[in-house]
Order: sequence, then structure tokens, then C-alpha cells
Amino acid sequence: MEISIRKNSAVKVQTLVVFATKDANGKKPIAGDLPPDLKSLLEKASSDGIFSGDKKETALYRNHAVAGAENILFVGLGPANKVDAEQIRNAVCTALQGIKTSKATSAGLWLDSLTKVLKDPGLVTQAATESLLLSSYEFTEMKSAPKKDKSEPKDVTFFAKNPNAAMEKGLQKGKILAECQNFARRLGDLPGNFSTPTILANETLKAAKGTGLKVTIWEKDRIKKERMGGLLSVAAGSSEDPRFIIMEYKGAAGSKKPVCFVGKGLTFDTGGISIKPAAQMEEMKYDMCGGAAVIATLLAIAKLKLKINAIGLVPSTENMPDGAALKPGDVYTARNGKTVEVFNTDAEGRLILSDALVYASEQKPAAIFDTATLTGAILVALGNTHSGVFTRDNKLMKKIQEAADTTGELVWQMPLTDFHVDDMKGTHADLCNISNGRNAGSSTAAAFLEQFVEEGIPWAHFDIAGTAWNVNGRFPYHPKKGASGIIIRTFVELAQLV
Ligand code: BES
Ligand code: ZN
Ligand code: ZN
Repeated sequence: MEISIRKNSAVKVQTLVVFATKDANGKKPIAGDLPPDLKSLLEKASSDGIFSGDKKETALYRNHAVAGAENILFVGLGPANKVDAEQIRNAVCTALQGIKTSKATSAGLWLDSLTKVLKDPGLVTQAATESLLLSSYEFTEMKSAPKKDKSEPKDVTFFAKNPNAAMEKGLQKGKILAECQNFARRLGDLPGNFSTPTILANETLKAAKGTGLKVTIWEKDRIKKERMGGLLSVAAGSSEDPRFIIMEYKGAAGSKKPVCFVGKGLTFDTGGISIKPAAQMEEMKYDMCGGAAVIATLLAIAKLKLKINAIGLVPSTENMPDGAALKPGDVYTARNGKTVEVFNTDAEGRLILSDALVYASEQKPAAIFDTATLTGAILVALGNTHSGVFTRDNKLMKKIQEAADTTGELVWQMPLTDFHVDDMKGTHADLCNISNGRNAGSSTAAAFLEQFVEEGIPWAHFDIAGTAWNVNGRFPYHPKKGASGIIIRTFVELAQLV
């Protein structure tokens, strides 16, 4: 889909979308200044009682030849005082569905009907672009005869009275962010046999070409030499070798501390010897979504040419049971010298992340953010709306909330205390990989990770096990089934706040 911005004096599209809010007394839809013929059509829609500007409401007029368009689609935004960037994403997604219904190959959005409500033309254009590109993501490459959705318009034009540089910038920013998010979704949707640690590393190398990112891949020997005992232990039962992916971006002076992102790149999680039940085990191909989010975050940061330094780290392996696999009770030594007894080989994410967190700490970063599909318990706590955030740093939490508010990705702070740390003490080793209590599994997992972050470095952990895939239609621009590509846009915002 090609997106561009043009003056609204020259509309020439098959379907033109006009957005309208619902006024305070709920009667008339409001869309700002419109050409007379468009204005009277909106008035007609209102007086006919078929459109009031309510959220999700639409009215399609075919073959009306109004304002340079064959079809006019009105889309409701709800009350004006509730319209934020996320509501624009939602409404633009509704608009795209309507455009598809109208079978238009060319379409336009009357941008002024959005910038009239949310008075930040850059943000409006960015959100609209994100929504169009995110909503049109499809994963069809595993089908023998992939069918692209033919009803999708090839061109979408944003029509504005006065197109300006802020809009153009918003379009470019939205395009980069959505394309990187779609890239991460694809990595998530790829099945385990098409997304091994080696493939993940190669896809990263390929995607980073020409972006200015430096990508280094550590293979098994190097991982051993670097004393990454957790990553090696989890990889022991797999015939696929592990990888450690390092992405470095320099957009600022060398003296500026980098922001470090760490993501769980578990390409398939069977549970290992503590094997998972068969039901829904196929979903464990998504266990690398944290890793994919970090890869996409670094790609976006580089493509946006942000004036920061950033590092992305992705420990990647499968978790499989075989004769060489890690056994319950086994003890290994992590990169920081701490010993860990593994009581449950299915709690493997924390093992591979912890070595990466030690490496991240060694880089003396301004902050470390890790993300992982870490615990089933976060699904119980937060469902598939919010990603769980664990940090003891209130200043950092404020920035995280600010970043998430900007991107519309929902986060919720979860407890992380010394109680949870106590629960992770080992019997015959320093630490145990599962809690000796039964509950608060997401907090105890976070407490385990904390043991590998150098004190004094601001750090937050994002558990995305509930939000990384199958968000079931809660967010219309995410696939109902499949990877969402969550947390990338929040991470990119956050990188600029620390
Ligand atoms: N990858 C899973 C977490 C997960 C489970 C994500 C279900 C999404 C849906 C993780 O490696 C895991 O298996 N965690 C265990 C930990 C437990 C053994 C302490 C879990 O959450 O059950
Ligand atoms: Zn597991
Ligand atoms: Zn896992």
C-alpha cells in the first residue's frame, strides 16, 4: 500500500473517507470544514438517522460523485474530547474495512477531519499511517497458493487543506514503525521449523543491511567462551545451535551511554524435559516474540536515525527434550558466576535472558529494558490487554508510562519486591529457576532476572506473554490470531526518554 499526502482541492479517488465526531448532545456528526456537497451529504446522513459520529459507526454512499470521489464513507470518532492517537488508529482501521467493502483500488482520507479534533498534524498522520499498514498485515507465505487480500486499496492519499512538513514527517515515522512492527509479526508467525536461532540471526543480518546497524552473531563456541551457561544449558537438548544476536546503533557521540534492549528469542518452547502438555503447544512458536520486538526496535531506531546510542541483544535457542537436555535438578553457572539449579526446564526464558542481562550490564548502559513471553501467570493476571512491567525504579516507570501513553500500547506495573527475591533462593545452588512459593509467578520470574542486572542500572522487564499474539480482536489493527508485534513502538519512544 502506497500512502501519500495531497492538497484537498484535488481529490480524485474512488472512495473518500470523512471522519466525524459526535457532538455533546449526541445529535449531529461534526467533521469541520467540508466542501458544500460533502457537507450536505453528511447532513443528510445525520437527518436520515443513519450516522451520528459514534465510535465504530460507518455510512457508505456509493456512486455519489461528491467532492471528486465516487464513493463517500463516513466514519465515526465518538466524542471529540475522547479522541487520542489510539482512537485515530481504531477509526482508520474501521475506515480501511469500509474502503475494502467499497472495493476501491484508490482511496483517500480527509485528514482535516482528524487534525481538526486532535490538533497535532504530525501525530495524526503518524497514527493514521501506522493503522493502515498494521491493519493490512497478513501472513500468507506458508500457504501453497498465497492469496493477497485483493480488496485492499493500492493507494491511500491523505487529503489536507495545507499539507505541511509535520504531516510528511509523521507519515515517514509511522511507515517505519509499522513496517518494523510487521517485520516482527512475520518472525513471530513463522513456524518453528522456519524460524530456528540460525534463521532468526540471518533474518536480522539481512534486515539490518543498509541501516547503519552493526550486527554481530555469536555462534555456539563463542557463547561457550563467553560463559553464557544459561543459554547453553537450554540449548543442550536441541539439534539446532543457539545464537546470541548483538545489534549496535550509534546515532550520538561515543560518550553518550547506550540504551540496552534485551529480548527472549526462544524459537520453540516444548518445555524441555519438564515437557508441556500437547494442547496449544503449537503456540510456543511465538516464544521468540520478545526477541523479534528487540530486533525490530533496533531496526526502527536506525531507520528513524535517532540521535541516541542503542544496543539490542537477543539470546536465541530452542527448548527441546533429548538425551543431552538439561534435567530437573541440574545446576549451571551463569555469566556472572552465580549458580542456578533448574527445577523446571520449562522456566527457560529466564535462563537465557539472565546471561544477556549480565552482558547488557557490562555495556554500562543508561538503562536496560528486557521483554519476553516469560510466564503463563501474566496471562492470568492481565489477560491480553496489558503487558506487565516490573521495575523498582519509579522514575523509570514514569517514563515507561509516558512512552506507552504515546503509542497506545497498554502496560501495567506489577509488584517486584524482596519477598519475590527470597522465593528464588536455591537449595544447593545460589538460585533456583522456579519459586518455592506457588503464586505470583510473573513477579518471581522478574525477581530472578533482577539477580543478573548490575545494581544502579535503571532496569525494567516487560512480560508480553499475554499480548504478543492472539489478542482476539481487542485491538482492531492487530490480527485476531497471530503475532501482534507489541512493545516495539513503546520501546522506540522509551529509547528517546532515557
Ligand atoms: N514460554 C513460556 C511462557 C508462556 C506460557 C507464554 C504460556 C505464553 C503462554 C515459559 O517459558 C514457561 O513455560 N513458563 C512457565 C514457568 C513455570 C514453569 C515456572 C509457565 O509460565 O508456566
Ligand atoms: Zn517454558
Ligand atoms: Zn518459554
